[in-house]
Amino acid sequence: MSDSALQNRRILLIIGGGIAAYKCLELIRRLRDKGARVRTILTEAGAQFVTPLSVGTLTGEPVFQSLFDLTREAEIGHIELSRDADLLVVAPATADLMAKMANGLTGDLATTTLLATDKPVLIAPAMNVRMWAHRATQRNLEQLMADGVEIVGPNEGPMACNEYGFVRMAEPAEILAAIEQHFSENAFKGELPLKGIKALVTSGPTHEPIDPVRYLANRSSGKQGYAIATALARLGAETVLVSGPTNLPPPPGVTVKNVETAREMLAACEASLPVDVAVCAAAVADWRVDVDATQKIKKEAGAKAPDLRLIENPDILATISKLTANRPPLVVGFAAETEKVVEHAVAKRARKGCDWIVANDVSPETGVMGGELNTVHLITRDGQEDWPLLPKQAVAERLARRILAHFTNKDKNA
Ligand code: CTP
Repeated sequence: MSDSALQNRRILLIIGGGIAAYKCLELIRRLRDKGARVRTILTEAGAQFVTPLSVGTLTGEPVFQSLFDLTREAEIGHIELSRDADLLVVAPATADLMAKMANGLTGDLATTTLLATDKPVLIAPAMNVRMWAHRATQRNLEQLMADGVEIVGPNEGPMACNEYGFVRMAEPAEILAAIEQHFSENAFKGELPLKGIKALVTSGPTHEPIDPVRYLANRSSGKQGYAIATALARLGAETVLVSGPTNLPPPPGVTVKNVETAREMLAACEASLPVDVAVCAAAVADWRVDVDATQKIKKEAGAKAPDLRLIENPDILATISKLTANRPPLVVGFAAETEKVVEHAVAKRARKGCDWIVANDVSPETGVMGGELNTVHLITRDGQEDWPLLPKQAVAERLARRILAHFTNKDKNA
């Protein structure tokens, strides 16, 4: 990416109260090196960690701290601060700042500016691991994402408070890259970056009939696949979602094909080809009953319980990956594992023949709560990427962006 992505861009950096605030000094320096103008709001808590003098020296601008600084308010009010920015960056985004943003609360210059702005906002969360994993913070994160707030990090690693966690603030280089990415995506000039790409997503459980009223199933909610279809469609991909039975509303802009069984799911997928990318997120039942009764199986008095013989269902991911005609150029599978997560996922990728596998660590020690948070490793041909503890929606958005990067780089190489 050329340095000009940031040339003359106006960044309003809101520095929250956390030990990671010191990284903002490096971020400011890097942004200015790339030609950006940086203004800052330093929260009261933020000023406990970095001084207005060091921030102001690096930005070469006054540092804004108080909502009721009348002299400054007369010179440049909080509305003007937002009006005069191309992007607002909140770093570190503390649990408190995220909660206030998600709920539209104000009380100081930072939160008032964030509520008054109509400009894009990028946050770099950082907090104690338990605060991050708390349902309240995850709810706020989901709300912020639904509101269109962009997120960078957090990262895995030891915390300043000596608890191992996944919530260190992204490094200055990563925040810089996210800001550059923001501006380069906007450089599509209103065009959707995945426009022209066809995507197929499988999602949900399958129901395998025993008789006309009974079936075998699993507990999959379908949330992950629906979120992926939504994220791909939002980036402009022409998206087909082949869904087993779920309670979820059809995602906007996505063609939904509803199916019940694994065999129907495979047939619907094959009928949707060719596509550029297939993402198999469905929890397909591995087995079905060999003959499903055409009439309800009756419980005759004294009769023993029926013997159900199970036979294997088609493996949709493996079938699509091994197609000779119409094989999508990029096939992505999922793997939920409880132990040796990466090792098993690497083997699964090879066995199924897909290009990428999203390995989901569902072991109890990850702190994954109620299936809402995911710890993910993306296994590709080139190795492994470790993603932080994230809600399913964030995993979906990250995956969609990763797919975008794949097609963009490929185009460049072509
Ligand atoms: N999958 C599929 N069709 C099947 C079974 C699985 O398309 N009949 C896909 C899932 O959508 C997922 C991937 O295969 O993308 C891995 O699913 P998983 O259940 O983890 O793998 P299994 O093959 O069932 O292996 P195991 O249960 O032994 O881990």
